[in-house]
Amino acid sequence: MDFSIKTFDAKTPIAAVKTGCIAVGVYENKKLSDQAQQLDFGGAISMALKSGDLSGKPGSTLMLRNLDGVTAQRLLLVGLGKSEVITEKDFTSALAATVRVFAGIGANDAWLALPTDAVKGRDAAWVVQSAILSAAEIAYRSDGLKTQPDDNIHGVKKITFVLPEHAVDAGKAAIVTGKALASGVALAKDLGNLPPNICTPTYLANTAKKMAKEFSLGLEILDRKQLEALKMGSFLAVTSGSVEPPKFIVLKHMGGKAKDAPTVLVGKGITFDSGGISIKPGASMDEMKYDMCGAASVLGTFRAIAEMGMKLNVVGVIPACENMPSGSAARPGDIVTSMSGQTIEILNTDAEGRLVLCDALTYVERFKPAAVVDIATLTGACVVALGNHNSGLFTRDDETHDELANALLAAGKESGDTAWRMPLGDAYNEQLKSNFADMANIGSPGGGSITAACFLERYTRKYTWAHLDIAGTAWKSGSAKGATGRPVPLLTAFLMNRAG
Ligand code: BES
Ligand code: MN
Ligand code: ZN
Repeated sequence: MDFSIKTFDAKTPIAAVKTGCIAVGVYENKKLSDQAQQLDFGGAISMALKSGDLSGKPGSTLMLRNLDGVTAQRLLLVGLGKSEVITEKDFTSALAATVRVFAGIGANDAWLALPTDAVKGRDAAWVVQSAILSAAEIAYRSDGLKTQPDDNIHGVKKITFVLPEHAVDAGKAAIVTGKALASGVALAKDLGNLPPNICTPTYLANTAKKMAKEFSLGLEILDRKQLEALKMGSFLAVTSGSVEPPKFIVLKHMGGKAKDAPTVLVGKGITFDSGGISIKPGASMDEMKYDMCGAASVLGTFRAIAEMGMKLNVVGVIPACENMPSGSAARPGDIVTSMSGQTIEILNTDAEGRLVLCDALTYVERFKPAAVVDIATLTGACVVALGNHNSGLFTRDDETHDELANALLAAGKESGDTAWRMPLGDAYNEQLKSNFADMANIGSPGGGSITAACFLERYTRKYTWAHLDIAGTAWKSGSAKGATGRPVPLLTAFLMNRAG
């Protein structure tokens, strides 16, 4: 998909634009946007509204063809809602409807001439980026393993945004970031949707290798022997039941100054979570192929920041393995020694995410990070607490961590990929007490997403840290089953803000 920006003025009226389709906005009170007014020759648009052919509600559309005075083959009227101060939600529906129509028509290119300065709290750059992400969302297919694809992809290959003069530079920059972000989101979706017999730890490592080559990123992939030498007893316990070799992936995008402390992303990469000996029930167990979506979000975010050439030092770390039952698998009751030296009583082998993450969180101390954010499909309890809308955000609650938490929450709001802050604290921490080891890997009942975060917190005391539980947001179940690509938009916005 190709995108470009045009301004228009008296000399080049949009009525004279040669294109397959122009989209302009109209309102519920039957008013026309400025752009629609310019094309309302003989009152054709006003008439369509007055006669009730189009409600003007956000996301409603009406296609008109061969209008007098309009060179474009088609004119798409797009409802923008109630008033001329358009809300973000209404405009997002209108954009999605517009690009959905663009994706289904027999034309190669289209112009998007919606009122980009009228969206409350947002600017034209946001409109451009949202449209690009929306177009990518609609064009996304996950039928690569079907012998017959679901449908033919046609529709427009190029969208031109009509922007006011003052927004042209920001709009151009938004095309670059929007395309990079869309490609990061698509990578995260692809990896999530791949079946667990294909998307193994080795596959994730190979994906990182390809990306490192394409963008000249630093890369290290540690195998079992090296993990043993590092004394990652906790991570090794999780992989011990599987015949798939574990991979510990370290990616580096050093876009900042050499001496600047890096921001570190750590992604849970369980390519299939059967539960291990504490085996999961059969229903929906296939969805545990998505248990590597934290890892996928790190790889997707790296793709986005590498493509946009972000000026920031970022390290990505992915502990990747399978959680399987077998004669060599870890047992409930086993006590292991983590890389940090702290001992862990494994009371439930299905609480494996924290077991792989704790060693990764100890490993990253060597980078003397400016901040560490881990991303994990960590607990079913987080889905109970927050549903599929917000990722769970956990940090300590001192001043430094409040700042990090607020930066992540803000990045979520900016990108429409939101998170909600949850508590930590001594009362929850006590639930992890073990009679035989420094801690158990599960808490007493209640607050499961919080006790999981408390477990991780014990491994992050040497740096500023936040944890994102994406169990509810990384994929959709049911008939719309598929990875969402979240939280690549949140993470990318967070890093963009840090890069300044
Ligand atoms: N990967 C799961 C968490 C999960 C479950 C995410 C369902 C999304 C949907 C994780 O490894 C897990 O199994 N967690 C257990 C922890 C429990 C044993 C303390 C859970 O949430 O049930
Ligand atoms: Mn599990
Ligand atoms: Zn898991």
